[in-house]
Amino acid sequence: MLNKDGFDLWSDRYDVSVKEADERNQYPFAGYTRLMNAIYGTIMEHSPAKVLDIGFGTALLTSRLYDAGNQITGIDFSAEMIRIASIKMPTATLLQWDFSLGIPPVLSEQSFDFIVSTYALHHLTDAAKVSFISSLLNLLEAKGVLLIGDVCFRSREELRLCKAASRDSWDNDEVYFVVSELEEQLSPVCELVFHEFSFCSGVIEFRKKP
Ligand SMILES: C[S@@+](CC[C@H](N)C(=O)[O-])C[C@H]1O[C@@H](n2cnc3c(N)ncnc32)[C@H](O)[C@@H]1O
Repeated sequence: MLNKDGFDLWSDRYDVSVKEADERNQYPFAGYTRLMNAIYGTIMEHSPAKVLDIGFGTALLTSRLYDAGNQITGIDFSAEMIRIASIKMPTATLLQWDFSLGIPPVLSEQSFDFIVSTYALHHLTDAAKVSFISSLLNLLEAKGVLLIGDVCFRSREELRLCKAASRDSWDNDEVYFVVSELEEQLSPVCELVFHEFSFCSGVIEFRKKP
């Protein structure tokens, strides 16, 4: 699994490498551009919005939202990713923080219309995902939405089939989302809707239950 130094090194060729993998329709980035555009479109329907991005990277998504007038706060642990993102979004609030430690204390009193996270939370175990997502739900406005776009499968069986088909490139250190299992754990506190974008990717939409 990449640590923050690994992400620092990847930062200058990240944008090109994900786009190329998407164009080849390959795991893990097949569907990446459509997925990002869909999240962008959903938020823009409510623009200007207050948006928190978890693991914003080179800000491929959030810089577009920033340019369109949304108010951006972000968390990432890579100094290089933050450097690149802050050039694109000079007045955004970009915090260097490791999300495996939970929510940064400075955000605990804030609330957001949208919280987004793309291709970042697969660095958490399944148990840590449930706990972190629960904390994120607490940062949403009453009608706020959490949008997680990532390598994602409806069921454990779909994940198994993708792993078998992508044996040469499969990353055993990453822990991908299985929607049915997440739903079992989180349905008491929120509503989940899954939008599939490719054989290995999708967006999970979370809304707090009233
Ligand atoms: C694959 S990139 C995704 C970037 C961007 N969200 C996108 O979709 O293009 C993952 C990002 O999450 C950040 N990240 C990974 N693990 C993290 C952690 N534990 N705490 C904070 N940031 C983390 C990395 O530094 C990197 O910028």
